[in-house]
Amino acid sequence: MSVTKDLKRITTETIRKMKFSGEKISMLTAYDFTIATLVDAAGTEIILVGDSAANVMAGHETTLPITLDQMIYHAQCVVRAAKRALVVVDLPFGTYQSDPQKALESAVRIMKESGAHAVKLEGGKEIEESIKRIINAGIPVMGHLGLTPQSIYQFGSYKVRAKDNSEAEQLISDAKLVEELGCFALVMEKIPADLAKKVTETIQIPTIGIGAGNSTDGQVLVVHDMLGLNNEFNPKFVRKYLQLEDQIKSAIENYVADVKSSDFPNENEQY
Ligand code: KIV
Repeated sequence: MSVTKDLKRITTETIRKMKFSGEKISMLTAYDFTIATLVDAAGTEIILVGDSAANVMAGHETTLPITLDQMIYHAQCVVRAAKRALVVVDLPFGTYQSDPQKALESAVRIMKESGAHAVKLEGGKEIEESIKRIINAGIPVMGHLGLTPQSIYQFGSYKVRAKDNSEAEQLISDAKLVEELGCFALVMEKIPADLAKKVTETIQIPTIGIGAGNSTDGQVLVVHDMLGLNNEFNPKFVRKYLQLEDQIKSAIENYVADVKSSDFPNENEQY
């Protein structure tokens, strides 16, 4: 049974209800107005303005360099486009880990200046006070556990997380904590499918997986990955629904050739 059909605006409450109705939650990233318009119109329930913008929009190797001002800019573009989807924005690295007051101020800036509906933070126990402070101010928070790209230099690689028992136990305990603190949903990135299933069955808030198997309550992908905009990036968990890199390159090559041969513009393409 669909709980989202005909809804004007998806809310955190809608997302919570979807877990219990069994309707899977679809989430995709977007960082600009044009793509966000398409993602929204296609029926995606959640648009994530991910700090993966640092990689796919700005060309950085990691997500660490993106700033709060830059995230707010991307969020503003997406919010203008999203007529139905819930818009969640990543708090970027360095804006919430050091101090709960700073975390709250960062989250408030995102909500006030972009008009987004929720924020996402990476981590569990270590950022407990920051999550608490933001939720106490009435701002919905989405958690993020497993592979947390802002900690890449601590992990040393983008390999699957929580394969051993102690890390798996820690993740389960962090997931329970995130639920207790009042987060409305939890992203789990690149962890074994069995562990993601166990967490999904243990906690009452919706889980959204990326590289975490099929038992989570929803799925998220980076939109550039699922559209096939980068032939060099082929992790197992990405299903490519298009091969846009090839198509765009070939379209641009055709344009260049048409300009050079004076085929473009023709008589119908001029005033
Ligand atoms: O920044 C991002 O795109 C994310 C998703 C991978 C979940 O956090």
